[in-house]
Amino acid sequence: MFSADLLAGQTILITGGGTGLGRAMALRFAGLGAKVGICGRRPDPLAATVADIRAAGGTAASAMCDVRDPVSVKMMVDSLEAELGPLTGLVNNAAGNFLSAAEDLSPNAFDTVIKIVLNGTFHTTSEVGRRWIERKNGGAILSIVTTYAWMGSAFVLPSACAKAGVLAMTRSLAVEWATYGIRSNAIAPGPFPTDGAFSRLMAGDIEEQVKKQIPLGRFGRPEELADLAVYMMAPGASYMNGECVVLDGGEWLKTGQEFGHYTDFDRGAVKQIFQSMKRSR
Ligand code: HXC
Repeated sequence: MFSADLLAGQTILITGGGTGLGRAMALRFAGLGAKVGICGRRPDPLAATVADIRAAGGTAASAMCDVRDPVSVKMMVDSLEAELGPLTGLVNNAAGNFLSAAEDLSPNAFDTVIKIVLNGTFHTTSEVGRRWIERKNGGAILSIVTTYAWMGSAFVLPSACAKAGVLAMTRSLAVEWATYGIRSNAIAPGPFPTDGAFSRLMAGDIEEQVKKQIPLGRFGRPEELADLAVYMMAPGASYMNGECVVLDGGEWLKTGQEFGHYTDFDRGAVKQIFQSMKRSR
């Protein structure tokens, strides 16, 4: 759906780019001509993703980094810019999450997710943003949140708090940094089956139940999220700023709607019931 060189001239950093949705975005961006920098805590997935991009003819580099540590973030950005040149885009994708009852969370458990998701997004955003402000060339930031960033969610309290914070950061910077030519946007995905998320969040047969609450009847495909990210990072999206685009097959609307669950039943049978309930004048 895009021209083959849509992202030529772009150099984009994706945090957590070695696996899952980050990897899908890295492959897609590179396939459309961007130079891609990825970072993460584990060397093997980073090396594999860089190798796959290069094997397909793209340009990529990686650096190990824990986004919780601002010093590690600075070193990572230094190293990737030395190899690829100045960044033009940043995707805040690295996340941490697990299921826990709120009353069972230790202070360190809460801190850990907040530090990865909220503080980590701040560290990368401020490191890259300061460079862009100094260079006066602008840039594009995209942060991956979730649909529960505004609704909250049971059993993932630290993630819900952190993602709400990232959404607030996105909207705050959209106004504050627009004067520097820096756009700031977000994507709110529903469930996408990646190992990192599903191994931690989908217990027992909950997966099938969750699927049933998605009007389109299936989970998202990582390539679908990557394509939306391409659009939002592309130069042609230059007027999009402060937006959060939901990509969830309609899930959050259905779970919030009063009568959406009638769609779970055979439509003919539902219509018959509606007909039988119709009052004659
Ligand atoms: C309760 C837990 C826990 C669990 C860890 N902790 N897992 N508490 N239930 N399942 C507690 C530990 O006991 C410890 O507290 C503290 O959290 C830190 O744990 P560590 O294992 O030392 O942390 P670390 O090795 O840094 O690992 C971070 C992590 C891990 C977040 C816990 O899961 C991780 O690395 N995740 C990265 C990938 C990921 O989560 N991806 C999913 C993103 S999905 P104490 O007090 O014992 O010291 C997503 C959106 C999904 O974000 C949207 C779906 C719609």
